[in-house]
Amino acid sequence: MNKQFTRVGIGMVLALGLSQAALASPRNEPIQPIPQATITNGAMVELGKKLFFDPRLSKSGFISCNSCHNLSMGGTDNIKTSIGHNWQQGPINSPTVLNSSLNLAQFWDGRAASLKEQAGGPIANPGEMAFTHELAVDVLQSIPGYVADFAQVFGKESLNIDMITDAIAAFEETLVTPNSDFDLWLKGDDNALTAQALAGYQLFKDSGCVACHNGPNVGGTSYQKMGVIEPYQSASTEVGRAAVTGKDADRFLFKVPTLRNVELTYPYFHDGEASTLEEAVDIMGRLQLGRVYSEQEIGQIVAFLKSLTGEQPRFELPILPPSTNATPKPIPFG
Ligand code: HEC
Ligand code: HEC
Repeated sequence: MNKQFTRVGIGMVLALGLSQAALASPRNEPIQPIPQATITNGAMVELGKKLFFDPRLSKSGFISCNSCHNLSMGGTDNIKTSIGHNWQQGPINSPTVLNSSLNLAQFWDGRAASLKEQAGGPIANPGEMAFTHELAVDVLQSIPGYVADFAQVFGKESLNIDMITDAIAAFEETLVTPNSDFDLWLKGDDNALTAQALAGYQLFKDSGCVACHNGPNVGGTSYQKMGVIEPYQSASTEVGRAAVTGKDADRFLFKVPTLRNVELTYPYFHDGEASTLEEAVDIMGRLQLGRVYSEQEIGQIVAFLKSLTGEQPRFELPILPPSTNATPKPIPFG
């Protein structure tokens, strides 16, 4: 009965003219497809989505997570370094929140082990949202709509920062971008990549980019030196991993960034100094591999990189519950 079922199954697939993708086995490559998000607690994800968009978690009442990780623009702000409270110039480029759950740790230097640990950082960072965890809790606690949401998710009406960061992290775990052209190709669809992109992927593998940019996130699996063959010239004072470990040997080691959706996450590098993908690829070739690519080769690698743009998270903009008379007032200036 099983056999017959299989025969019928294949017959149907052929009859419907489905692409080979449905039948072929996955390819054995150093990059794997992005898995779909599995949502275990839908109510918590919805709450986290509201918090991600809520500027009342900032002192000014104006800056939300989405201000610097704009989900309409690849989860970044597309500027060199971020703008924080009081228009302060941030020290470092905002990495994308898309697929960040697949990284070995969070931040360029990996100083937060998890999304939950990371989420508390920006709220209290004076150069970002400039709030305190206590005030963030007070604000949400004063809003009945939020108290009801938290009660539903956590079974408690008394909020704390842990609940806030749990919910934000649960939402962030859903921000994955499966089914890019490259992933369709990985799953066996020979027609998903152009000849140029495929040549770019070969070059990416053969010249050694893949030694650092690998795994499902095409990065995010290790810390590596920026400037292996030639030093990287930068006006930025960021030292990377050494800031966490205190070891001199870790100077200028950064978490290898994901190359997923890299077409959307310009400008590039921790200081945001490379404004185009062509420039970033050229610098990577020279500094990391001692290799000078021709214009044609750069075009091929860029075509491959653009095939890494996946399905962006899509949802209705959350409507946030209104503040009350008791809600602490925002301080937009000062
Ligand atoms: C003022 C701009 C700004 C705001 C607001 C902001 N971030 Fe960030 N975010 C950044 C910057 C800049 C970095 C990189 C900092 C570093 O690596 O030292 C970052 C890093 C991250 C990362 C790490 C990604 C990775 O791959 O390493 C995550 C996740 C993240 N932010 C989530 C959030 C969440 C959640 C909020 C809201 C609670 C938030 N951010 C608010 C600018 C911002
Ligand atoms: C030795 C490890 C290593 C190799 C090899 C390597 N990279 Fe990178 N790559 C990194 C690191 C580390 C960064 C972050 C550097 C920084 O921001 O200062 C990075 C950043 C990038 C970025 C910018 C991403 C962003 O969001 O800012 C691109 C694009 C990139 N690499 C492409 C490539 C290509 C293409 C190759 C092959 C020519 C390559 N890399 C080879 C480690 C490596």
